[in-house]
Amino acid sequence: MPSFDEFTRESKIFRDRDVLSPHYVPDILPFREHQLRELMSSLAPALMGKKPRNLFIYGKTGTGKTCSVRQVAKKFEEKSTNGKAAIIYLNCRIHNKPYRVMDKVAKTVLAGFDKQGYGLPQIYEGLLKWAGDGRHLIIILDEIDMIKHLDELVYTLTRANDELKSGGISIIGISNKTLLKDELDPRTKSSLYERELVFPSYSANELQKILQQRAELGFKAGAFTPGAINLAGAIAGQESGDARYALKILSRAAEIAEETGKDKITDAEVKSARDMVELDIVKEQIEKLPENHQLVLYAVAKLSATGSRYARLEGEGENDGYLFSGEIYEEYVQLSKKLRRPSKTARSYRSYLNDLEMLGLLTTVESGKGIRGHTKLIRLGHPAQEVMRILSKSMEGGG
Ligand SMILES: Nc1ncnc2c1ncn2[C@@H]1O[C@H](COP(=O)(O)OP(=O)(O)OP(=O)(O)O)[C@@H](O)[C@H]1O
Ligand SMILES: [Mg+2]
Repeated sequence: MPSFDEFTRESKIFRDRDVLSPHYVPDILPFREHQLRELMSSLAPALMGKKPRNLFIYGKTGTGKTCSVRQVAKKFEEKSTNGKAAIIYLNCRIHNKPYRVMDKVAKTVLAGFDKQGYGLPQIYEGLLKWAGDGRHLIIILDEIDMIKHLDELVYTLTRANDELKSGGISIIGISNKTLLKDELDPRTKSSLYERELVFPSYSANELQKILQQRAELGFKAGAFTPGAINLAGAIAGQESGDARYALKILSRAAEIAEETGKDKITDAEVKSARDMVELDIVKEQIEKLPENHQLVLYAVAKLSATGSRYARLEGEGENDGYLFSGEIYEEYVQLSKKLRRPSKTARSYRSYLNDLEMLGLLTTVESGKGIRGHTKLIRLGHPAQEVMRILSKSMEGGG
């Protein structure tokens, strides 16, 4: 019989687990002073009865966009106590259509709108009336690229501003997609990008300081070596400059130390944590793939596990784990047959290969002359057994 003592024993590593959770936002955000100031200066006019210009925030994933904006929004709310300005934060993964955005805005800001069943025209009129009393509304649209019919939403809000004599509505858009700008209709673009603010990726050095700050708050004194923190920062800095990734490695390393009964997080735990976090990310990528991509990837993994048939025939035992494009296609067609799915043309197949390569799930090279003429050689980006395990589960789940 196990004893509860085992589970209630105080941790040798953690002082406060929450500090390492993805939801925790520290009071001080190092290396974001400039961005925080810019944000405040953009919003400040609303506190003085003037309409802030719209602002577009761009930066790669994990560069602190969300946490910086939320922090500034909180400060803004503390200052705007006279009812003349309001700020609302929306994640557009959830509020992903113009109506859903407007409905949420109405429910949050307008009195009497918290019940179901108001149509867009009523909400629109309600907003005009609210702002018409000289009030300013700031709508933060985080992950704005997730909104379907964004042009329509921006148009509606811009038109509202045109109708208003006093008061106004401003938008802060946030995205980590570089290409978004090119996809927007020119009118939407010029509205959204009145002001721009970039969040650069963190350097290894910056990540090390960010991790240091968390480690001091979240871990017990002496429960980590400075080397371990620096290693985690260096790994994340080299890969992506993504603070979320850096923090994931560190918290995983802490869990590993705890589970294995260590009283310190060292380089060894950080290295194992890196491998585990890598695999989690790969798993997420694979699970999100469309079915045909998954089948092609499965074909690559299966052949990688058994070795290239052609290479064996031609006595090229040492082909560095590369497979021929043709044999993968054959395998993919067979797999599709087995699963009673129609297989796609060779041309679609090549575009799947491209997509998979872009995600880093495989690498391709053109073969030199001599090896079966000109062909693509393909290699799996991750261990075959792992990839097959993830795919078997995912394809079962997907039906
Ligand atoms: N300067 C910083 N200091 C401390 N922690 C930070 C800093 N920047 C980011 N973080 C932490 O990193 C994680 C990711 O930050 P955040 O969610 O703000 O990234 P993001 O830029 O919004 O990324 P995405 O584009 O993926 O939404 C959070 O847990 C946050 O607390
Ligand atoms: Mg974010």
